[in-house]
Amino acid sequence: MMILSIETSCDDTSLAIIRTRGKNRVYFDILSNIISSQIKIHKKWGGVYPVLAMRAHQKNLIPILKKVMKIANCTLRQTQGDTSATLSIECQNKKINTINKILEKEPELLNSFLKFVPKIKKPKIDVISVTEGPGLEPCLWTGINLAKALSFFWKIPLVPVNHVRGHIFANFIEEKINLKTNSDFFPALALVVSGGHTQLILMNDTEDYKILGETRDDAAVECLDNVARILGLEYPGGPIIEKKAEEWKIANDTLRQAQGDTERSRSVELQIDLPRPMINSKNYDFSFSGLKTAVLYDFKIRSSKIKKDKNYIRQLCFETQQAIFDVLIKKTIKAAKDFRVKSVLLGGGVASNQELRKQIKKAVENSLPKTKLLIPEPVYCTDNAVMTAIQGYFNFSEKKSKHWKNLKARANLRTD
Ligand code: KG4
Ligand code: ZN
Repeated sequence: MMILSIETSCDDTSLAIIRTRGKNRVYFDILSNIISSQIKIHKKWGGVYPVLAMRAHQKNLIPILKKVMKIANCTLRQTQGDTSATLSIECQNKKINTINKILEKEPELLNSFLKFVPKIKKPKIDVISVTEGPGLEPCLWTGINLAKALSFFWKIPLVPVNHVRGHIFANFIEEKINLKTNSDFFPALALVVSGGHTQLILMNDTEDYKILGETRDDAAVECLDNVARILGLEYPGGPIIEKKAEEWKIANDTLRQAQGDTERSRSVELQIDLPRPMINSKNYDFSFSGLKTAVLYDFKIRSSKIKKDKNYIRQLCFETQQAIFDVLIKKTIKAAKDFRVKSVLLGGGVASNQELRKQIKKAVENSLPKTKLLIPEPVYCTDNAVMTAIQGYFNFSEKKSKHWKNLKARANLRTD
């Protein structure tokens, strides 16, 4: 089966084409996968600006569609003698009218669609999968409208995908297993730490989800973004804070080695005590807004000389990151033990952080040696259409496809 997938829930425009093989054991071949990041556009605003993100999706979608189809080798031009081309002269006007309606709110997308899609033969795609939510509504609509237009034009079934579940399914890109019958996998616990979500989810199978806990205020990523802003670092906060935290480890180790591990060398470290909010609470919820406030307070009380010291900024990044990871890891291990899960699955942009990957691996090995830990490759932790295709495959198998007329954006779609 060939699946074309579209992901535009936030600020990455991504399309992919995958091929599935096998029946009992499913293998996924990634034929093409393109992710166009909009970080440059949003950097100056310090966050994602939905209207700008939507416009960038409208501009990017058809050029990326062209590329993924070319790479996957499924673009064939219509020729004059084609029966399909001759037939299409009569029915295409009608078809084009419907396309005009589907894409009436996306003039740039409509224009580029009409210049490309009617000129090529219907590709050998069996299913189109698209993110329906959660996400930024105008962004979701752009991807959905393209998916509707393609589904209508090529008469290909359309299947909607839940974006947070997609982050979990990124773990199955490499797992060549039959998830439906695999009893060593479920129950599974998923920790999704993405731009808008910090959730612990219990999965009894690929269809049964229960949110055990989530953030009560800011998502972990919002905390990282806010701390970066306080410290005068660039957006997005996660990657730059990871870099500064790593620099702190190196700088501190070097100083200690040079001076011997004495009290004097430790004086390069400042006393920074950040809270680990809700770390000992009995539930599985999170809260990160107090952490951001604690960082702000620490920053405010420092002298202007210290604020300019790059080692202070590095140390604060290190401490912030560690405070977040301590809470995420402790709660994940607690939930995994309480629910006796057979596997722990990570997902979302923060799961691409090398330090989190290392620390969670160690924690699972130490506390839950019989539990499997899956973490997607970093490129599949942040938003990408491959995970949308994998989830699309399972949804299609569960007969969850929808007629294009019935698909709409669901900005607040829940995971369970
Ligand atoms: O899951 P994702 O790609 O998008 C949403 O679904 O929202 O997550 C994006 C977020 C970014 O805001 C970024 O700050 C964070 O993931 N992120 C990281 C790292 N790479 C991306 N956070 C911490 N460390 C990283 N290396
Ligand atoms: Zn995401």
